[in-house]
Amino acid sequence: MILTRRQALKLAGALSGSSFADLACTEARPRPRLLPSWLAIPEPFKVELPLPKLLKPMRSEGTVDYYEMTARPATVELIPGVQTSIWAYEGMLPGPTIEARSGRTISLRLRNSLPVPIVNHLHGGRTESLSDGYPTDFVLPDSGEAFDGGNPQRSVSGEREYRYDNRQRAAQLWYHDHRMDFSGPQVWRGLIGLYIIRDEEEDRLPLPRGEKEVPLVICDRSFNADGSLAYPSINPTLRDSPGVTHSYMGGVLGDVILVNGAPWPGLSVANTRYRFRVLNASNARRYELALDPAPARSASFLQIGSDGGLLGSPVRRRTIRIAPAERFDLIVDFSAYPPGTAVTLRNLADSGRAGSILRFHVDRKEKDASMIPERLSSFEPIDTRDVVTTREFDFRFDRSSHIWTINGRPFDERRIDAAPRLDSTEIWRLRSDFNHPLHLHLAHFQVLAHGGPPGLWDAGWKDTIDMEPGQATTIAMRFSGYRGKYVFHCHNLEHEDMAMMANMEVV
Ligand code: C2O
Ligand code: CU
Repeated sequence: MILTRRQALKLAGALSGSSFADLACTEARPRPRLLPSWLAIPEPFKVELPLPKLLKPMRSEGTVDYYEMTARPATVELIPGVQTSIWAYEGMLPGPTIEARSGRTISLRLRNSLPVPIVNHLHGGRTESLSDGYPTDFVLPDSGEAFDGGNPQRSVSGEREYRYDNRQRAAQLWYHDHRMDFSGPQVWRGLIGLYIIRDEEEDRLPLPRGEKEVPLVICDRSFNADGSLAYPSINPTLRDSPGVTHSYMGGVLGDVILVNGAPWPGLSVANTRYRFRVLNASNARRYELALDPAPARSASFLQIGSDGGLLGSPVRRRTIRIAPAERFDLIVDFSAYPPGTAVTLRNLADSGRAGSILRFHVDRKEKDASMIPERLSSFEPIDTRDVVTTREFDFRFDRSSHIWTINGRPFDERRIDAAPRLDSTEIWRLRSDFNHPLHLHLAHFQVLAHGGPPGLWDAGWKDTIDMEPGQATTIAMRFSGYRGKYVFHCHNLEHEDMAMMANMEVV
């Protein structure tokens, strides 16, 4: 179902009856809300950090590498001794990592062996519209079952090919489900994976590599007593009737923190530098990362990259705030700690169990071959003299219709909300009533203002930015590469599913 305004009103009406007793109701804006697990929460730091498996190409021809992947149900052990059924790429959470080379094309053949439609979006990819995972471009189940809500011209049954040109610089991207109205629950069930682009500029740098380049995919989940994943869907089969129960429409927070699919894992490290490539793959949870203990004489983190790849030069950071879908490329130098030290990666944004994420054990001495140069990449700021259009978007909760809106309107597949010209530069001024992590497909942007002037953490090329309540955010971007229809939306997935999305068509 496409959420037209009329349907949205109907949906809101259907929901409001159910939960008048709920405190969240009385607030002007529903906040993200904790969904408590029924399962005994596992002890932290008992399991080892798993590493996502690499997906191998089936074959290569010229400048194209051919990959195949199946989204399917699987039963896995996320929590020690507990079986959990998930819906995941190759049956793994996170799915397999795809490593791409800038300038080489990837053809990804995705098969859908799940009982519901899926849509694959490469987040951070500069992708042709047809392969970008527009929310109604369904890959229908290979069972042949029919579903409503897809665009009949652009949906296929069973499997389809996505083409990623990778005409972009080295960066950590990720892929995830983007089915219209159902991205929240389908991502929650496991449809996420990493996609890392490499290039020569990055290869030349003496950064930590091999086992010292570690992806950290952080997401929160909640569990039912039988070990299954808990999520407050209105219809848990996810066949129809989208949305979550009323009290969760501000966003769903889990109480188990998974890193690469393991709850509060541990990682043994040498006393050298490591490169951590952090993705917040949570639906609605924001983290503020910090090291405990912090190193005595240096900054905890050296940030070398963000969503869109390497920064011009590294930035020293004490903590890292990371909103859903954001990525940070971080160097931690464990030579600041004597071997034998346990260093916890904390989340200062929460004081309970979600206040910690993972634990490093500095357990050996090694010579460090890495170096972090002061100049990382040739980074060109957008020239604001090139700006041809300025647009304004207001992100807020609409109290009368009880949904999340952009410029007062819920998502409508047929309405184009912005039509930038190919190769033009624009400024977007954004206002927000709440924390909304805005994500633009196709175009990476630079931050011109974020409340006040941009912070150090806004450096580099971004594709997602956490807008703060009541503040103004200004971003600048160039629309190059492809014409066609794309979306931009809030990446709090419950907000996105409940209409906080809009269309842009590059013309
Ligand atoms: Cu990461 Cu439109 O999404
Ligand atoms: Cu939002």
